This record gives sequence, C-alpha cells and structure tokens, in this order.
Amino acid sequence: VNKIAVLTSGGDAPGMNACIRAICLACEHEGIEVIGYTHGYNGLLRQDWRTLERADVYNLIQRGGTILYSARCDKFKTKEGAELAAKNLDELNVDALIVIGGNGSFMGLEHLQTVWDKPVVGIPGTIDNDISGTDFTIGFHTAIQTAVESIDKVRDTAEAFERIFLVEVMGREAGFIALDSAISSGSDHVLVPELFTSAAEELVKILDKLEVRRKNKTNPSHIIIITENLWPGGLQVLADSLASETGFDLRVLTLGHVQRGGSPVSKDRMLATRLGAFAVESLLNGARGVMVGETHTKPVLVPLEQTRTTTKNLNRYSVEILDRITRLG
Ligand code: F6P
Repeated sequence: VNKIAVLTSGGDAPGMNACIRAICLACEHEGIEVIGYTHGYNGLLRQDWRTLERADVYNLIQRGGTILYSARCDKFKTKEGAELAAKNLDELNVDALIVIGGNGSFMGLEHLQTVWDKPVVGIPGTIDNDISGTDFTIGFHTAIQTAVESIDKVRDTAEAFERIFLVEVMGREAGFIALDSAISSGSDHVLVPELFTSAAEELVKILDKLEVRRKNKTNPSHIIIITENLWPGGLQVLADSLASETGFDLRVLTLGHVQRGGSPVSKDRMLATRLGAFAVESLLNGARGVMVGETHTKPVLVPLEQTRTTTKNLNRYSVEILDRITRLG
C-alpha cells in the first residue's frame, strides 16, 4: 500500500478530525502517502481532493467538525456513480480508501466494492452510536456531554418555574443518546424507540409519574428526554396532551445540531486516534471490506455487511436500572 485516500461522509461528528489526524500520522510513520477527498462521496465523483501531511493535521485533534467537509450524496448510489469513483481513484493510483461515517457511508463503501477491487475500510463516526459491531462510535460521548450540559441548564429554569420540559435529542432511529443523556442528567423519564410500545401506553406511564409528582412536592421540575422522530405527530402533540390532562406548565425544547458540534471529549479523541491508527495497520495486514471498531476496549474488524444486518442493542444494565433511578415525585 503506497497511497491511501480518506473521506468523511454523512452527519459530521466530533472526533472526525482527530481520526483524520491519526490516519495521516500513522501513514506517515509507514511511509504511505495520504490524500483527503472533500465533501464526502461528492469529492470522489468530482475528483476534488487535497493532500494530507503532518502540517495539515497540526493542532487538529481538538477541533470539532471535519476539515474534509461532509455531505450525503445520492449520485454516488447509482452504478455510474460508483464506476466514476473507481475510475477517479485509479487515476490517482489510490491503493485503499478509508471512509469515516455512519451506516449510509458504509453502504456507500459496499457499493464501491462492487466495481473497485482495491481494499476499503470504514471507521464508525456518528453521534448516534447506532452502528453494530462496535461498542461506541466517534462523536457519541461528546454529543452526550453537550446534551447533558444543556439539560442541566434547562433544569435550573424548569425548577424556577416548576415546569415540565420535554427535551428532544438526536439519534435518528436509535435511543443511545437519549438513554445516556437522561441517566447522566438525572432526568425523570426517557422515551427511546427500542422500548417504545404505543403513544397511548407511553402517555399513561408519563401521566402516572406526573401524578406521583403532584402528590409529592419535593421535585418541582420534571424533565422528559425523547428521541427525535419518535412521538407520532411530533413533540407538540405530546405536550398538548400532557398539558390538557394535567394542567401543568410545560415547554418543549429541541436540542438539535448543537449536539453535533464542539471540541471532542477525551473519550472520542482516544477512540478516533486508536481507530484511525488501527485502520491503517489493518490495511497493511490485508484487511478489506471491513469496519474497524472496538468491543470491550479491544480493536475488532467487522465485515461491512454485518454492521448493517445485525441489530445493536441498548446497554442492558442501563435499561435495567432505568426505573429505579429516574426520579419520582
Ligand atoms: O446521524 C447524525 C444525525 O445528526 C442524526 O442524529 C439526525 O437525525 C441527522 O443526522 C440530522 O441530519 P441533518 O444534519 O441532515 O439534518
């Protein structure tokens, strides 16, 4: 392997830059040339790239976002798109491609493999943590930290007004961010897709808790954390039902894209650095068509297809303690 290309694709995540840095430095150590395609798979189609050398990644480990930019790219999903990408990679004599991204980005790699016979490796980078085969994805811990800091602040104003807050966090179709941020912020209730039964049943559970709160005045505020895209009709529907059933003063807050930004916490820098270096090492050892990940703090190689076909479960112990530690009253 003489030349490696890297790109970041899909939703950006804090720690992507730290990972680019690690790839660049690990390659330099092995005497491998590195280039970075910009704007995700779009750069691959437009032959839009830049060299990546030690000086380019200086002072980068702590920066949020991605210096390579990111995007989602529909054109790449076509057969012609993959063929053009393969042609462009060959034109630059690229020996291997590393993509840092989420599920959609890995599907892109599988697609490319149908027409390009050189090795590809995926690195899990998404705040959602919804990639099977790795305990954590790059960006998840920073997103939790950001959510928790925001929820702590919301708690202050919620208490002052004795209000109920419905706080929506990201996660796409997965509850990892909601579960961990609810537990870490000491919130009173959490709604995640993995445990969601029906709007009617969930509403009863929330109302039961609010009834306890009404009787026991020790906890004036009440914070409910909800995964995005979950409540049928949207959060305002839930807010309206709760307001009319209880008469409590209630506000809705969508945390949104702040969860994707900011300087990565050390856990994300560590994961990003280890996985970036491991991706390079794995390519030198002949890996292809795999994701590099970590389970129980050990590096693992997972076939790309498997990251898509197996389900990743919420942490069982966190779920088990949920009823016991979410505050009542
Ligand atoms: O996958 C990361 C993520 O932030 C999800 O949590 C969210 O559903 C989605 O991306 C938002 O995408 P966009 O930035 O295109 O609005």
